[in-house]
Amino acid sequence: MPVPTVADLPQPPGLPVLGHAPALARGGTMHRTLYGWRDRLGPTYRVRLGPSTAVVTAAPDLVDTILRERPATFRRATYLSDVIDELGGHGLFNAEGNDWSRLRRSAVPGLSVTSLRDAFGTMVRSTDRLRELWAAAGPGVRVDVLDDLMRYTLEVIGGLTLGHDLDAVRRPHEDGLHQRLPVLASTLVRRAYSPLPYWRWFRLPADRRADAVVAETGALVAGRYADARRRMSAGEAPTCYLDTLIKSSLDHDEPLTEPEAAAAVINMLVAGEDNTAAQATWAIHHLATHPEVQAKIRAETAEVLGDRALPGDAASLSRLRYVEAVVKETTRVNPPSPYAIMEAAEDTTLPGGAGGLRVARGTVFILLLDDGSDPGPFQPERWLSDPPATSSRPFGGGPRFCPGRNLALIESMLLIAMVCHNFTIEPDTSRGPVGERVTFAVFPTNVGVRLRPVR
Ligand code: HEM
Repeated sequence: MPVPTVADLPQPPGLPVLGHAPALARGGTMHRTLYGWRDRLGPTYRVRLGPSTAVVTAAPDLVDTILRERPATFRRATYLSDVIDELGGHGLFNAEGNDWSRLRRSAVPGLSVTSLRDAFGTMVRSTDRLRELWAAAGPGVRVDVLDDLMRYTLEVIGGLTLGHDLDAVRRPHEDGLHQRLPVLASTLVRRAYSPLPYWRWFRLPADRRADAVVAETGALVAGRYADARRRMSAGEAPTCYLDTLIKSSLDHDEPLTEPEAAAAVINMLVAGEDNTAAQATWAIHHLATHPEVQAKIRAETAEVLGDRALPGDAASLSRLRYVEAVVKETTRVNPPSPYAIMEAAEDTTLPGGAGGLRVARGTVFILLLDDGSDPGPFQPERWLSDPPATSSRPFGGGPRFCPGRNLALIESMLLIAMVCHNFTIEPDTSRGPVGERVTFAVFPTNVGVRLRPVR
């Protein structure tokens, strides 16, 4: 029997010409539409996005094979990679081949648990600024969580990549690069879903704003590049991602120009901001609606932190086992990154299904990293005794799994410990219920809370 090909896969009903693109764009919840079709058609099906076809799969063997067989047989989708390059953000997330190996080698040490321990002070500083901001808001006043946590994660990732203090948390309304940087992720998403690459012919005002942010970030990197090169050439230890990039390029005799360094930094800033802000905001939403979880955290932080306002060192943080369970449970219930878009880098045959699947080079895959089934109740305890068996891969898998997952865990743990140790959290639904919307990540919408000091 011949091996099935993409043309043999089922597809949901779609429109002539546009195919399934309008259905996927509708409502800002593309992942839910993909799960719905998966329920009707089975784990592997195809969709048409204008003239091109993509394979959608939630089949664990296919997803695992594709994630594992990188960078040789599979790669990130070329169209997505081009969008990132054209935005001036070429770096680890979209690099391929030797370029990817080189960038991965430089990124991973700086994001290891040991290095993050050294960078702990930066994260504590940002968390304490957030505590001060929320204390100053006054008891019972609505706090719009996502806005504040976007600036929190941006400040942290800015410190770690560049050794630069964006001072974003304390300046919600002041002008600064922190106000402008989020335009990069939104431009990336807008272009990735645009039916035509119009920006190659003309720039809309939003594109011009993105260009200006790329130039501004480039100037920031340029201001630090020469000094970082001098320090790394003198054998000093790296203290940020820019340092590690430069050190690695010197160690391996692979020159890294200033524009290349700027692009790699932009790539990391975008990769490190939105997913983590989404994870942290979902966590606050669950805490607000589960006072019993807040009480358990407070009991744990009272024991570990005593009179201190927040964990000031990595050793204290690592004793907060229940807080860690809350972050893991949040990621189980609301994975911020439920799908990943890949492409076959060569003709190949995938295992599974009825006789496998033959795919041609260039075939695009939307991998469902989460199965989208009802996650059941929010119960952090499940991570303490008997961690749940889950087929979800919130951080991807294989050689390109997310290198920032420890950083995201630490940021969210610091945030949760700080907020529960210092405040009680009540939901504020005065502006409507909490929803979700997928852009670069799946964000909760409309998470407002009222905080009251407990100490
Ligand atoms: C909860 C927060 C986060 C989630 C859910 C998340 C999720 C993911 C996922 C699903 C991937 C794709 C993995 C794959 O292709 O197998 C990824 C890749 C990546 N993430 Fe994260 N991420 C998070 C936080 C971060 C942070 C804080 C950073 C920055 C330090 C970061 C940097 C990256 C980079 C650079 C890649 C590309 C790695 C490569 O291609 O080698 N992420 N992330």
